[in-house]
Amino acid sequence: IAGCGSGSSEGAANDQLTVGFSQVGSESGWRTSFTQAVQAEARDRGIDLKFSDAQQKQENQIRAVRSFIAQGVDAIVIAPVVETGWKPVLTEAKRAGIPVVIVDRNMALKDDSLYLTRVASDFVEEGRKAGRWLMEETGGDCDIVELQGTVGATAAIDRMTGFNEVIANYPDAEIVMTQTADFTRARGKEIMETFLRAMDPADICAVWAHNDEMALGAVIAMKEAGIDPGDDILVVSVDAVPDIFKAMADGDTNATVELSPHMGGPAFDAIEAHLRGESVDKLISVNGDLFTQETAAEEYQKRTAG
Ligand code: AHR
Repeated sequence: IAGCGSGSSEGAANDQLTVGFSQVGSESGWRTSFTQAVQAEARDRGIDLKFSDAQQKQENQIRAVRSFIAQGVDAIVIAPVVETGWKPVLTEAKRAGIPVVIVDRNMALKDDSLYLTRVASDFVEEGRKAGRWLMEETGGDCDIVELQGTVGATAAIDRMTGFNEVIANYPDAEIVMTQTADFTRARGKEIMETFLRAMDPADICAVWAHNDEMALGAVIAMKEAGIDPGDDILVVSVDAVPDIFKAMADGDTNATVELSPHMGGPAFDAIEAHLRGESVDKLISVNGDLFTQETAAEEYQKRTAG
């Protein structure tokens, strides 16, 4: 299967846990940190982690999960690309008696017996936090261009919902243009270029990007167009990766909402508890704060030290 390998298979003991992990891809700096955090956590616990990178394609994920089932892993962790289309393969895992943990984005499932638990952030609240910050900063008067994440992904759907819910209370705030840039820096730059061509940049008050990576692409597009990002046009996004703290410290972006990449620990805790016969909550929440330019330099130092 594409991108499938073992994270820590050396020195396997007889009672060693084997866990299959189907990851979305490597579309963003946040995703890479998340992968590394899960792999480190597995190593620390002596878990044999079978890792598969889906390259942002659900069909690759379904193939990987089937392969994990065929290998008889003890548990499967899935970070789904999109919400729909999971029932058949999860039913196969359930029939094989393999618990499934959903991490990060969600799956649209009516039957919650198809998974053990979900470890995730409240994406709607992330959107609300970004919206509240922007409304406070602009007094609620702002024409916004939006860079959406991957179509059908919870992180895009819910962040949009939360942000829109907040700005709906401000009659002078409006999303004037919106398009998906698939959570990547390259697409963020491209789509921002089309926005800047489609309207007078002087009429754009802010960029709302569903992740830092697209915001960083938009920053490049604005600079190339002679615009001062973070000043002429405000930039607010989600993830809190080191690169965005650098951009905020340099005055190029303004605010970000943190999404913790440390979901591997709670996912493995849940699997271990389940295998000991303990019950596990259906949702394990990880939530983050909003950061601004004020603490950006300090945060950048902290997050890149060592
Ligand atoms: O699902 C979480 C989102 O996926 C992150 O915000 C983004 O960087 C990633 O691509």
